[in-house]
Amino acid sequence: MEITPIDWTSLRAAAFGATTNSYAPYSKLQVGVAALLADGRIITGCNVENASFGLTFCAEVTMIGRLRMEGVSPLVAVAATDQFRRQLTPCGRCRQILMEHGGPDLVVDGPTGPRPMRELLPDWFGPDELPSS
Ligand code: THU
Repeated sequence: MEITPIDWTSLRAAAFGATTNSYAPYSKLQVGVAALLADGRIITGCNVENASFGLTFCAEVTMIGRLRMEGVSPLVAVAATDQFRRQLTPCGRCRQILMEHGGPDLVVDGPTGPRPMRELLPDWFGPDELPSS
């Protein structure tokens, strides 16, 4: 049972809106992402590419920067789209980053609909793998 109701239509619309902020002159794939937070807020992010291609920020990365700067609350649901409104699944690196801020119950949208992080990133590397002191 979900504690916070998830309005996927609104979340996808917020993600699509964020694609207009994208800087993607190289791939031409404008990505926007939106997250519903446990406190009810919605935050967004967009991809920011670089002429040194490997330095590109995925949309999820810029969104997590905003999470830290604008007020921290756990991620409940995440949706990403491109400029064509296609629903995107986060890349592997972004799954790891999202997991740290939402945990295995975080629900993430994709082409076939929402799925929990426990399915998208099983056996993840987390803080429990680090020495305790
Ligand atoms: N991209 C994202 O923003 N998020 C992902 O999870 C996958 C890929 C961006 C990075 C790059 O600017 C473009 O999509 C093409 O890979």
